[in-house]
Amino acid sequence: MAMRWTNTLSENDVTPESVFLNRRQLMAGGAAAVGLGSIGGSLAAAEGLEPSSYEDITQYNNFYEFGTGKGDPAQNAHTLTTAPWSVKIDGLVEKPGDYAFEDIMKAMTIEERIYRFRCVEAWSMVIPWNGFELADLLNMAGVQSDAKYVAFETALRPDEMPGVRFPVLDWPYVEGLRLDEAMHPLTIMATGIYGKDIPNQNGAPLRLVVPWKYGFKSIKSIVRITLTEKEPPTSWNKANAREYGFYSNVNPEVDHPRWSQASERVVGGGLFSKRIPTLMLNGYADEVGALYAGMDLTKNF
Ligand code: MTE
Repeated sequence: MAMRWTNTLSENDVTPESVFLNRRQLMAGGAAAVGLGSIGGSLAAAEGLEPSSYEDITQYNNFYEFGTGKGDPAQNAHTLTTAPWSVKIDGLVEKPGDYAFEDIMKAMTIEERIYRFRCVEAWSMVIPWNGFELADLLNMAGVQSDAKYVAFETALRPDEMPGVRFPVLDWPYVEGLRLDEAMHPLTIMATGIYGKDIPNQNGAPLRLVVPWKYGFKSIKSIVRITLTEKEPPTSWNKANAREYGFYSNVNPEVDHPRWSQASERVVGGGLFSKRIPTLMLNGYADEVGALYAGMDLTKNF
């Protein structure tokens, strides 16, 4: 499985957690040795990131279809049937259709990416995802030249999702990206964590991960991807447009109307959990800052 650039720290073998960090160092050294400048730079930026524990990543979740408590998804999401699974890809694409999850997996290159993950609620983790670049999937379907946005939709299954009885959000959960954000190599579809299949509570069998945006953009258990010309509606923006914009880029300088976004609590460590400063674009400004050149990020929040 190929190594590619941007915070790609090791291959997607089943990596025991215990050897994970050593291996990460090894791969970082290897990339530098063959003189791949951009890889070396990104790896350096990721150095010092201590991945959160598997338990924290899979027991402290937001997946409102299974309840609004942090422990609800881990407790309730086992009811979600994730096989068979297919993703409808439609709208402005050359090859619309229902793509079986297995066929997607056969066609994609699975990589490991260790990313910061920053929730809009001001907590954070560092998560070793396994997955593939969204761009590869979109290219498989063939993006038409007039497409400007990508809309995503989560499964809506009242029989399997106890949380959708409550009108917390307008179900199904929907999200969207501008096409250039979706095609950026940092944007992935995650199918695993720590080399294991992604657990239901984290969005099985495939969920979006956009590491420079607040976590709610990273929509889970996706059943539909639609290429559009117009900016698609997004769940949290529909629920409260004043608090949640379309872009939702991590920005320590733009506070949420009800709390500061200048710092974040690192999940884990119990009483010893620490607060750290939040970084512009969640630490990925060098990689993705150019996407927003000339935009006022306080207005386009
Ligand atoms: N996707 C769906 N379908 N439903 C949700 O409630 N919550 C979002 C996002 N994706 C959510 C979702 C929020 S608010 C966050 S912070 C992340 O999922 C949490 O991802 P994690 O549980 O894997 O850490």
